Amino acid sequence: MIFPTSASIDESAAAVSSSVVNAWNEWDPLEEIVVGRADGACYDPAEPGYRPILRGLTQPGEVFPTGPKPADVIKRANEELDGLTALLESQGVVVRRPDPIEFDRSLSSPEFTVDSQYCSVCPRDVLITVGNQVIEATMSRRARFFEYLPYRSIVREYWDRDSEMIWTAAPKPSMADHMYRKEFWELDVDERYARMHDFEFCVTQDEVVFDAADITRMGRDIFVQESMTTNRAGIRWLRRELEPRGFRVHAVHFPLDLFPSHIDCTFVPLRPGLVLTNPDRPIKENEAEYFSDHGWQFVDAPEASSTNDQMPKYCQSSRWLSMNVLSVAPETVICEESEKNLQRLLEALGFNVLVIPFRSVYEFGGSLHCATWDVRRTGGCEDYFDGSVGIVDGR
Ligand code: ARG
Repeated sequence: MIFPTSASIDESAAAVSSSVVNAWNEWDPLEEIVVGRADGACYDPAEPGYRPILRGLTQPGEVFPTGPKPADVIKRANEELDGLTALLESQGVVVRRPDPIEFDRSLSSPEFTVDSQYCSVCPRDVLITVGNQVIEATMSRRARFFEYLPYRSIVREYWDRDSEMIWTAAPKPSMADHMYRKEFWELDVDERYARMHDFEFCVTQDEVVFDAADITRMGRDIFVQESMTTNRAGIRWLRRELEPRGFRVHAVHFPLDLFPSHIDCTFVPLRPGLVLTNPDRPIKENEAEYFSDHGWQFVDAPEASSTNDQMPKYCQSSRWLSMNVLSVAPETVICEESEKNLQRLLEALGFNVLVIPFRSVYEFGGSLHCATWDVRRTGGCEDYFDGSVGIVDGR
């Protein structure tokens, strides 16, 4: 098939590119984006939905730190986030930054307490633009319950400026002990492989739970990963929210990822018809067919520049942050400086590759895609799957 299709599923939606909030996929020409900031960041506290680990060489008795991150660590991350901001501005993109807030504060709700909050480096995890709608995710971890706050003044401003913009906050879950499966953390690897097709992780199915970064957008078709941070009720909520607006919301699964969280190091659409895939985490077979049946190609990411053990000591993401690229346009992507193999592959695929250092941001939850939230891209809603009514649930 030929990409992109000229047929739009909703002519009126395709015509609103003058709106402030308008983004239908991961690759259209970028006009406005929010880039995170590291000010006030804390180490991610352990909690029922999360167990941070130390990487690489550790001293006997060394434990994962708690409380605020050191000033020099924050400064280095901020320099790289500012570098991303400058690069995007040089490409003509409007860049917004979150309000600084105090993360080094404990939280108490009627159901839980947690010693500190986290940071505002990864807006991707919290917010998503789907067409003219901004959705604030429920979040899945206690330390991230209030992570929408640094972005609220920006969202409010968009809502004031754009009368078409829809602003939706998903229902907050209790995050009480009973929302989590503590035994998840104790399972050994054999047990995890034996259960990999159950797609049951540290969050139960009783409440609506999702992080925005488990979602990826391809026009009419929206794909949501079942993960440690998004459960089936979360996907059902997204489906009920988005399907009346003409979207099709699919659940997708990567059975070999035993600790899945956030789809953007696993399955990364680069342009119509092309997805960057993770060779260690193939998508479930019948879900892969939905793509191949409609002319899409998968290209596996090459080996990353580091092993997992070479990732920064406090980084909780895998070496596959290598593939966490940010698209500025269908033919232009931003890639981390050290990821030479990926840069070569993307160039061979015909992309202009812009390169920037970003490894100091890794221990704050992610790389280039994670640290951003795209608000406006030129373009409308296209159907890249020929009007298909395939997959949706996927299991
Ligand atoms: N769980 C992913 C990995 O380790 C990291 C995803 C980071 N993405 C994000 N949006 N924070 O491969």
